Amino acid sequence: MSAPGALAYWYAHHGRHDLPWRRTRDRWAVLVAEVMLAQTQVPRVERVWSGFVARFPTPSDAARAGPGALITAWGRLGYPRRARRLWESAVVIDRSGWPDDLRTLPGVGRYTAGAVRAECDNDPHAIGVDVNVRRVCERVTGTRLTDRDAEHAAARIARPLTGRDRLLSLMDLGALVCSARAPRCGDCPLRRRCATRGTLPPVPRRAAPYAGSFRERRGRVLARLRAGVPVPAGELDHEALASLVVDGLATVVGAQASLPSR
Ligand code: ADE
Repeated sequence: MSAPGALAYWYAHHGRHDLPWRRTRDRWAVLVAEVMLAQTQVPRVERVWSGFVARFPTPSDAARAGPGALITAWGRLGYPRRARRLWESAVVIDRSGWPDDLRTLPGVGRYTAGAVRAECDNDPHAIGVDVNVRRVCERVTGTRLTDRDAEHAAARIARPLTGRDRLLSLMDLGALVCSARAPRCGDCPLRRRCATRGTLPPVPRRAAPYAGSFRERRGRVLARLRAGVPVPAGELDHEALASLVVDGLATVVGAQASLPSR
């Protein structure tokens, strides 16, 4: 069996077709999922995504609800600036509709724009290179790749798949078989054409520890503000609060801190 046919076969049988955000082609719901998944692992996003899109089913609902409501619904997913940018995107879409170039939306980069186009519109030219897709492409070609080169490599590697199936099959292969630390090359549908099969050293972990970090301090302040009642600023970690204000994730009026209303 040729390698591209093998990838399609593997994806049909082993792909993560039951992930909740894969049951919809609604752009807003998929945009929310992709923004969440960009920096947070699948099981944690699974716990939050359904409730989030049920609470804000359309960009108009999100725009009307205000940034504080999105930050609250974001829960403990981390990197809460993403919730604020999502609200800003919702305001733009509510006011002017979806732009042709999704990268003009706040917080939407090359990956997210390509992923939404591929998943929702099945655009044959669209692809998003996330860490999983990049790892597959770099291992198969045996080279480090720029984003653009990885997009071209992905198109070649996944042929004849295009659009949605191309993106999701490569993503799932990277997550389930061509994993960073324990690749299972013997189970890989691309093994016959892979330049580095079984020869790559494991990818070192890069994530910075959360415990004791400034992110953790910000998280503690946000957790108090999420209760929905203004908190005397003097009771809060001053530096962490100041940085949340700069990021538009908190406001201080008088001496009371709360989530932003706009
Ligand atoms: N399905 C669609 N996009 C995804 C992503 N970024 N991670 C995992 N599964 C997905």
